[in-house]
Amino acid sequence: MSDLRADLRNYVRALPKAELHLHIEGSLEPEMVFALAQKHGVKLPYATVDALRAAYDFSDLQSFLDLYYAGANVLRDEDDFHAMTAAYLRRAHADGVVHAEIFFDPQTHTDRGIDIGVVFRGITRALQDAEREFGMSSRLILCFLRHLSEEAAIKTLDAALPYKEHFVAVGLDSSEKGHPPSKFARVFERARAAGLLTVAHAGEEGPPAYIREAIDLLKVSRIDHGVRCSEDPTLVAELAASRMPLTVCPLSNVRLKVYNDMRQHNIGQLLKQGLCVTVNSDDPAYFGGYVLDNYVAIAEALDLSKAQLAQLARNSFEASFLDAASKQKWLLRIDTLAALIPR
Ligand code: HPA
Ligand code: ZN
Repeated sequence: MSDLRADLRNYVRALPKAELHLHIEGSLEPEMVFALAQKHGVKLPYATVDALRAAYDFSDLQSFLDLYYAGANVLRDEDDFHAMTAAYLRRAHADGVVHAEIFFDPQTHTDRGIDIGVVFRGITRALQDAEREFGMSSRLILCFLRHLSEEAAIKTLDAALPYKEHFVAVGLDSSEKGHPPSKFARVFERARAAGLLTVAHAGEEGPPAYIREAIDLLKVSRIDHGVRCSEDPTLVAELAASRMPLTVCPLSNVRLKVYNDMRQHNIGQLLKQGLCVTVNSDDPAYFGGYVLDNYVAIAEALDLSKAQLAQLARNSFEASFLDAASKQKWLLRIDTLAALIPR
């Protein structure tokens, strides 16, 4: 590694960061897929870990989702969910992530006959371990699969509400095109009535109109991805004025061909336009990098300054669901660190 790149990595690692767009099932590394397949006697269509990893060559969102759901099939018991979550938290901690807001997809598991309590207990136990062992805070966000019906989402919400103390928000993920936010207006209304916050994937592959729908109909606190807002300058101006956060995932966008090359990514432009953009890893086991890799990739491709990288870290706390005092604590740490660094 060049001195310049090592210096950049060390700087970004030292910045306290919140990760706000991470699918826990997307952190399941091929090595763990094989270990869990062996544990449960599941036959995989790949002979080796390398063969599985080599299959992670995607043409779009759907080609990724097909493998992502197949990989999740090895998750069977509470210890599996715990092991997957613990591995992610350890890895994120090593990157300087001090707070994580984590998505999970209960329908991917309940539709295979796994009890939702198994999923909650395994994940939650790992979150509590990380808080105790390395002081990492976290929140859990339950995502509905948008390729399934709203009725199925309502059943999932009802099954999850007995575990309400374990999650703070609901989200919307999976195949975006043809499944607009409006399809889920009623279940999001129910979630809000139960005291939950809301977020939604919008404007990854879907049009800017989906971003507006998520804000107007689902009353989201953040937009996940949202990069296609650039096609609608009025929307960009509104997002800047409202500081509506976008949880951007640069390596994901390149791997899923939202952009052909990182140098075409619009996150630097959106940052300059005053949007509350944040940097996240989405599905790090599938997209070739955790959160630090994402910061470094955009810093190099878009020639971002250290001050801009500190602003991205600041945005991650501004956009988080942490309480005001915790946000202030981390923002102050970032400012102190950034003040020591020449631009
Ligand atoms: N988009 C939609 N659904 C997903 C994603 C994503 O980036 N990752 C996991 N499920
Ligand atoms: Zn995502």
